[in-house]
Amino acid sequence: MKNYLRGALLAALLLLGSFREMFEEEESRMKRQILAALLAVLGAAAGLAICPPGAGAQAKGVDAEGHAWWQHAVFYEIYPRSFADSNNDGVGDLKGITSKLDYLKELGVNAIWITPCFPSPQVDFGYDVSDYEAIDPMYGTMEDFDRLVAEGKKRDIRVILDFVVNHTSDQHKWFIDSRSSKTSAYRDWYIWRDGKGPGQPPNNWLSTFGTAAWTFDPKTGQYYYHYFYPQQPDLNWRNPAVEKAMLDVTRFWYKHGVAGFRLDAVDTLYEDPNLTDNPVVAGKDKFGRPNMDEKYNKKLPEVHEAMRKLRSVADEYGSVLIGETWTTNVDQLKDYYGAKNDELQMPMDLMMTGFKGLSAAEYRKHIAAVNAAGHWPVYVITNHDIVRSYTRYGDGIHNDDIAKIMAALYLTLRGSAIMYYGEEIGMENNDPKRKEDVEDPEGKLGWPLEIGRDGERTPMQWDHSANAGFSKAKPWLPVPLSAHTHNVADEINDPDSVLSFYRKLLAMRHTETALLDGDYVSLNEGNPNVLTYVRRYKGEAILVILNMSAAEQKVPFELSGAGFLAPKVEVLLTSFHKPLKGMFAELPMEPYSVFIARVTK
Ligand code: NOJ
Repeated sequence: MKNYLRGALLAALLLLGSFREMFEEEESRMKRQILAALLAVLGAAAGLAICPPGAGAQAKGVDAEGHAWWQHAVFYEIYPRSFADSNNDGVGDLKGITSKLDYLKELGVNAIWITPCFPSPQVDFGYDVSDYEAIDPMYGTMEDFDRLVAEGKKRDIRVILDFVVNHTSDQHKWFIDSRSSKTSAYRDWYIWRDGKGPGQPPNNWLSTFGTAAWTFDPKTGQYYYHYFYPQQPDLNWRNPAVEKAMLDVTRFWYKHGVAGFRLDAVDTLYEDPNLTDNPVVAGKDKFGRPNMDEKYNKKLPEVHEAMRKLRSVADEYGSVLIGETWTTNVDQLKDYYGAKNDELQMPMDLMMTGFKGLSAAEYRKHIAAVNAAGHWPVYVITNHDIVRSYTRYGDGIHNDDIAKIMAALYLTLRGSAIMYYGEEIGMENNDPKRKEDVEDPEGKLGWPLEIGRDGERTPMQWDHSANAGFSKAKPWLPVPLSAHTHNVADEINDPDSVLSFYRKLLAMRHTETALLDGDYVSLNEGNPNVLTYVRRYKGEAILVILNMSAAEQKVPFELSGAGFLAPKVEVLLTSFHKPLKGMFAELPMEPYSVFIARVTK
């Protein structure tokens, strides 16, 4: 009989006062579990015993398990256009970010990843860099950047920059020179080829943003390659001069105190030199073009050599490399750590972002596969290219509860965590309703099937005043109506808000050794609605129960699978709306709810 069924049956027998005769051995075990349940209830009634936000944040060095700073750090992605606007021009800036460091510190953030803030024509909002070693005036000056790093240091908040390794802007001096003549010293810094014939590009590769991947340049009569917009020509990483220049860029910023890089679009760094056509496969993409298997312009083995070189420079500075690694399975992800752990320390696991809805079984399976792969996980649930998780999973009724589940999930699993600004207050997507309102070129081109990424990039909601306290000027993207209820100022005073939940959760994550260093044991594996697991460290453990369904679920305190036969349970955090009352053998989990407890033997 399944353990939980047996537990339920035994509890019923206890109520009838007759089970002592039946299973003597089971009796005392079940009694202890029921006592544990009772203790849990008492814990919940007495209030949550957790530490103040930000307390004890792991900042430096290597711990008893040999974990480095970045393994325990909580990273926080900032889209600088949208975080805080200090000069009231409608676009965020570096001084704005600096002014919010105390907020981030109290939230429990250890490092900020700023998406590109370098000079750029802003065709792709900074992912088209025209100078890698400067700050775009729209965001401030190099002095502002240095001050941000210094102020961050005072608060143990490191700064990670976004390095766009695959391509530059077409306004970068390298490309301007490259396109000027076939004999330019920079010609071979990009990928130039003759067409197959008049009006025919060199091959069938497509840009992910909806155009061809080749643009004809009449001046020299050749095509150049761009996996993204035509204004983002791909660099030729096979040219050693390119590689050297790019490694030098990282040195430049390490000397300015950055703690690492998020490497953009690493999957597309190399292309097949023979330009073999990609196989066409069934179906159409969101731009109505035939689907392709991008085997000749994505994830080529050469990318690993480049990662190793970037890593060896990072190691000189004790820095971390985070990869934008879009993978379809755990084996692909594994490759990015490097055969000798000498590539990316943190290749992002973006696979969860593709999960449809909340399925305990799907998460359980994925987490097991990632753990089996043996590396340090980096689960990501949302970012500036993906519909916000609040919107993706919200059912319109339990949205805040679901946001708390998602937070509890990835912030209590093994691994480094990367948050996305506004996630902690339950920010939702604010998608454009009309094509003429779209800012993201991808949305302009793909409307209405592909509406672009504006919706997930709207201004941070600081309070419920005009423009959500982001700016005194009209922001570059509109603030949603939900800013009236979901904003920092109001949520900070509401103990049940998404923000309060995040603050408690992050404080716990920083102080509970089991969450930092513990192993992971999955429990109640057959349950399709509830994800249950324990993080264990030397006799201590944190139990996490997530009800991912809209119905109440009864969950047994059955922890023998994790080695706890008679656990003592102390509730640390729940998202329950009603206090637990009574005595029971199974925990009644409210619809879409979180239960986190410390268990000891
Ligand atoms: C990935 C970035 O996250 C995205 O915003 C950008 O458009 C592309 N890379 C191209 O740089």
